Amino acid sequence: MNYRHAYHAGNFADLLKHALLLGLLAALRTRGRPLRVVDTHAGAGLYDLTDTPTLKSGEAAAGILRLAEAGDGGDAQLGALLVAVRGLNAGDLRLYPGSPVLTARALGPSDGLIACELRGEEADLLRSALDRQVPRPGPAVRVRTVDGFGYAATLSPDPAVTTLVLIDPPYEAGDDYDRVVETVGRILARDPQTVVAVWAPIKDLETLDFLLRRLEVLPEARGYVAQLRLRPLANPMRMNGCAMIVLGADETAGAARSTAEHLAQLCGEAGAKAVVHPLGG
Ligand SMILES: C[S@@+](CC[C@H](N)C(=O)[O-])C[C@H]1O[C@@H](n2cnc3c(N)ncnc32)[C@H](O)[C@@H]1O
Repeated sequence: MNYRHAYHAGNFADLLKHALLLGLLAALRTRGRPLRVVDTHAGAGLYDLTDTPTLKSGEAAAGILRLAEAGDGGDAQLGALLVAVRGLNAGDLRLYPGSPVLTARALGPSDGLIACELRGEEADLLRSALDRQVPRPGPAVRVRTVDGFGYAATLSPDPAVTTLVLIDPPYEAGDDYDRVVETVGRILARDPQTVVAVWAPIKDLETLDFLLRRLEVLPEARGYVAQLRLRPLANPMRMNGCAMIVLGADETAGAARSTAEHLAQLCGEAGAKAVVHPLGG
């Protein structure tokens, strides 16, 4: 397991994932029940954009730093993300939040977050980031050093809460795609009301299509796919874009389209585009 999110923190893929995540949390809040969020692959929680890995990759410069300079362009979810990031920084942007810190800061005292992170070192950093960055009283937050796929697949249904599961694996292990499909199937079999958001890279369309075809035949899997393509998919060795697959929260599809379109303009090359469509459509 070599993946270190520090190289990629604040890149275009984080912007799509995190802006849609904030939109989802806001939409689910209107359902009138406390939120329970499970982040299956949580990472370290907080990233210093002046650290060597981040500077070396240059991905944040072409992502969050470009967004901060350009502004949200009228997109509400990107605006909310900018507010959340600025809330962690007194002046210049130095700290960028990972999904668990972003989520915990958006939740209220009656909500809960369970963040799974398999690497002990990252889990320790995450605990410390959550301690420092989540105001008290705040949501009930637990960090578990466990396999997030296994944890999410055995989650007990709880009709008193709205459950959101974010699945954001590194896709470096050969079986990550298989485990995503298996986990989504097991989550929906236990509780079809669970809202699920899956992040996936786009290198070539074949791999993404194969994932979508396997997800769309799962019983109870209904939702949409927001694709952000940074360039025509001519070189399958590069990450040419990414997608968020959102199940059980179709009311957020319009906002996802707007965000993906803004990011295609902001971060894309010639031929960049957003493609948002129903799962199975
Ligand atoms: C893409 S990063 C997560 C980024 C984070 N979701 C965010 O948006 O800020 C993936 C993380 O998953 C962790 N990981 C890998 N396999 C895992 C597993 N089976 N269960 C839990 N965490 C895992 C890696 O150590 C890495 O920190």
